[in-house]
Amino acid sequence: MRRPLIIAPSILAADFGRLASEVLRAETAGADWIHVDVMDGHFVPNLTVGPDVVRGLRPAVKLPLDVHLMVERPDKFAPAFIEAGADRVSIHIESPCNVGATLEAIRTAGKPAGIVLNPGTPVKAILPYLDRVKLVLVMTVNPGFGGQPIISSALDKVSELVELREARKLDFDIQVDGGVSEKTVARCAAAGANVMVAGVALFRAPDMAQAISAMRRAYNAS
Ligand code: DX5
Ligand code: ZN
Repeated sequence: MRRPLIIAPSILAADFGRLASEVLRAETAGADWIHVDVMDGHFVPNLTVGPDVVRGLRPAVKLPLDVHLMVERPDKFAPAFIEAGADRVSIHIESPCNVGATLEAIRTAGKPAGIVLNPGTPVKAILPYLDRVKLVLVMTVNPGFGGQPIISSALDKVSELVELREARKLDFDIQVDGGVSEKTVARCAAAGANVMVAGVALFRAPDMAQAISAMRRAYNAS
């Protein structure tokens, strides 16, 4: 049975001069989660927000804040984001830290933990962690910047994860992030992803509510 669709607009494409009203705009438009891209200028060649921005956004919306840590030391920063109000935290398998211990720290803090794979990383790299995550994020672009075209070959890993989830009776959502739009959502859904992150396609749409509805229609029709 297909998992419910979750649409998570990424604030990376929002107007950073008025972030609180931007996340409220996403909530009003019918989003399910707010995706917060955290970059440290080392793990990826871009720099975004720290825990205090999450703290500032938390009271602005009721939606869960889905924090995607693209930082070299998520072990150092995950607790601070949770304390600031993150509702769920995902960390990269490529992070040079103790990934297992960091996932455990997120779970111990009472939040769902996610594991993220870059386009060049095979599914086998995350096999030891699949029984302790609630979400697997398959990057469909190389992380760092919004507005890049989807790398469709990454979707093969989504299908592989669906098979593993069934075979091992595991329980995680599959999220895709990068180049997801009304036009590409059907491909992501056909592969088996149910959590769609979209930055430019939603925050830069002329009408975000319409763009979200179009994504829902494309998902349901696929
Ligand atoms: C990329 C980020 C994405 C980004 C996606 O490193 O993780 O969340 O915002 O942007 P779009 O949807 O514009 O490709
Ligand atoms: Zn992201």
